[in-house]
Amino acid sequence: MLVLVTGGAGYIGSHTCVLLQEAGHEVLVFDNLSNSHPEVFNRITQISGQPVAFSEGDIRDKAALERVFNQFDIDAVIHFAGLKVVGESISEPLRYYQNNVEGSLNLFDVMAANGCKKLVFSSSANVYGDPDSFPIKEDFPLSTFNPYGQSKLMIENILKDVGRADPDWEISLLRYFNPVGAHPSGLIGEDPNGIPNNLMPYVAQVALGRLPQLNVFGGDYPTIDGTGVRDYIHVMDLADGHLKALSALNKKHGCEVYNLGTGKGYSVLQVVEAFAQASGRDIPYQIVDRRSGDIAISYADPTRSQEKLGWRAQSGLAQMVEDHWRWQSENPDGFE
Ligand code: NAD
Ligand code: UD1
Repeated sequence: MLVLVTGGAGYIGSHTCVLLQEAGHEVLVFDNLSNSHPEVFNRITQISGQPVAFSEGDIRDKAALERVFNQFDIDAVIHFAGLKVVGESISEPLRYYQNNVEGSLNLFDVMAANGCKKLVFSSSANVYGDPDSFPIKEDFPLSTFNPYGQSKLMIENILKDVGRADPDWEISLLRYFNPVGAHPSGLIGEDPNGIPNNLMPYVAQVALGRLPQLNVFGGDYPTIDGTGVRDYIHVMDLADGHLKALSALNKKHGCEVYNLGTGKGYSVLQVVEAFAQASGRDIPYQIVDRRSGDIAISYADPTRSQEKLGWRAQSGLAQMVEDHWRWQSENPDGFE
């Protein structure tokens, strides 16, 4: 199958490209490299032994998408391309809606016009807002507090309507919990610009000595040790979820939603402890005020993905931090 991977040069996309190639699929990446580095393609090739076809372009540029679909006979699309920083989305909402929503509309339009109606879409646990109970199931009420989350929810709703209007569409909406870790080779991993916003890359920079200490956002949550609890999922497990979702598209029609999480939550301090063990480094930290917009607890009920996709996360926290640390310590400057 020829799979178009939008955003395939990014963190989750690059790991998914490796697994797609290893599973015998042909991969074509469409990415504007706004948050990624072309060196990633050499690394993917080093791991899989196969070159990656790459078309540099922006999903906001409909003509560029049309050219790709005219040139290649694309069987399915995995759509990762998007902006993902919550804080940035609050200060630059129009850029986020244009990039994520308008760009996605272009893509779906061009797919429909070319009769390509198999799609796997990257959504986020952000669409659950602040749930009342745990674990979080796919049919929980949806709400979100920021333009990033809104953009994901809008795209989900668009795709649900598309699936209802035309049953030829086969769509999986994957709601990721907290992706961390890296390919076990240490060749690819997350390479955030500037100071990381997310916990694991921040802790990694502290372990490297590039940042002096971790600020732990809140020590008074109703959790095991007062710090926030999240469902961290190894990026390789997440990538595997995309392959399983892609295979399942052949068996059903319409639009289905799946949680991709492990079902287990860990606190910030548990992550810090695991990272210190894996790296053999001290992780100095101080507890500071809660971060605005954060919730206390989030973890998935992954039963539906297990039953319907035959997917289950394999890696525990120790593996996630070990792989994250290998990538970060062997590539302190990321792909530069
Ligand atoms: P990433 O930033 O590493 O990858 C996204 C890729 O999309 C980048 O290579 C970027 O250059 C590209 N891109 C962005 N806008 C584009 C555009 N207009 N045209 C073409 N390419 C464009 O992010 P990631 O962590 O790999 O996330 C992938 C997807 O998963 C995103 O849609 C994100 O919102 C979603 N997601 C991520 C997380 C997470 O924690 N990483 C959690 C939930 C959902
Ligand atoms: C954040 C986003 C979410 C997005 C997800 C993955 C916010 C409010 N939410 O989720 O929409 O889907 O990233 O990209 O930005 N923490 C610290 N110190 C830090 C960083 C984080 O204590 O320097 C804590 C947070 O308070 C939280 C946990 O670590 O309890 C995980 O944080 P993070 O990795 O940023 O992920 P989320 O907040 O879950």
